[in-house]
Amino acid sequence: MVMPSSGPADLADKVVVLTGATGDIGQATSWALADCGAIVVATDIHESSDVFDADERIDYRPLDVTSRASADEVIANVMADHGRLDIAVLAAGIATTNPIDKVEEDEWATVMDINVYGVMNIARAVVPIMRERGFGKIVAIGSIAGRLGGVASGAAYAASKGAVHALIKNIARNNANQGIYANAVAPGPVSGTMWGEVIHGGNPPDPARWVPTERFGTPSDIAQAIVYLASPQSNWVTGQVLDVNGGMLMV
Ligand SMILES: NC(=O)c1ccc[n+]([C@@H]2O[C@H](COP(=O)([O-])OP(=O)(O)OC[C@H]3O[C@@H](n4cnc5c(N)ncnc54)[C@H](O)[C@@H]3O)[C@@H](O)[C@H]2O)c1
Repeated sequence: MVMPSSGPADLADKVVVLTGATGDIGQATSWALADCGAIVVATDIHESSDVFDADERIDYRPLDVTSRASADEVIANVMADHGRLDIAVLAAGIATTNPIDKVEEDEWATVMDINVYGVMNIARAVVPIMRERGFGKIVAIGSIAGRLGGVASGAAYAASKGAVHALIKNIARNNANQGIYANAVAPGPVSGTMWGEVIHGGNPPDPARWVPTERFGTPSDIAQAIVYLASPQSNWVTGQVLDVNGGMLMV
């Protein structure tokens, strides 16, 4: 029998932990998930943040994704406070622009530490909890850089995002029969701090020369793709890298 499909994403009572939450995409995603009814634990490296002060649906906690102790403590506290953890959105990341012949060891190590170890570190903490309940959704943010080898970002960044895509597929493959879904969103250039300031020093290029839609993405464009992968609407989707890039990459 064909069952009627459900309406808009319903995340009522779902507990979400989000990293990199005070960044452009993290903020948009925190609010989008809260709008779907989720209880959002928004984390970032800053000891405190007033970004979510006006929104009682969102609870901010400091979490450095490169610290196993920090990850384990926050996840344990979420379990103690909420008794469940359904969704993890892994948005923390940094970008650098050096090509391979200019990359120094410390740049390489820092990018890998935050972008790859940071994803592994939280996934390692949440997968056993999700397995025990037989349900969980993990959404990491990769990048078009991991697909194309970088568009304006550097060697370390492109390599780190390729690693995120592969890691997510490994988590998906090994936990699909445990009710755990793991996917990545691979954004193209998104207007905001990382693309505009970090990569282009405050002078981003003309989107019409880069993107078929002739505009860069918005944080909300990416947040809506994350909501889809966090919601029951994507319940047979796992191990995927969802390209959200205004048509810059068509495969
Ligand atoms: N903006 C883009 O054009 C774009 C494109 C493709 C992919 N992405 C990816 O999307 C994600 C979000 O990017 P954004 O545009 O919101 O950038 P952003 O710089 O606005 O946000 C990144 C956030 O990560 C946090 N962070 C950095 N190091 C951390 C650490 N050790 N522990 C915890 N948090 C840490 C920062 O404090 C910041 O809030 C990143 O993974 C980025 O690589 C962004």
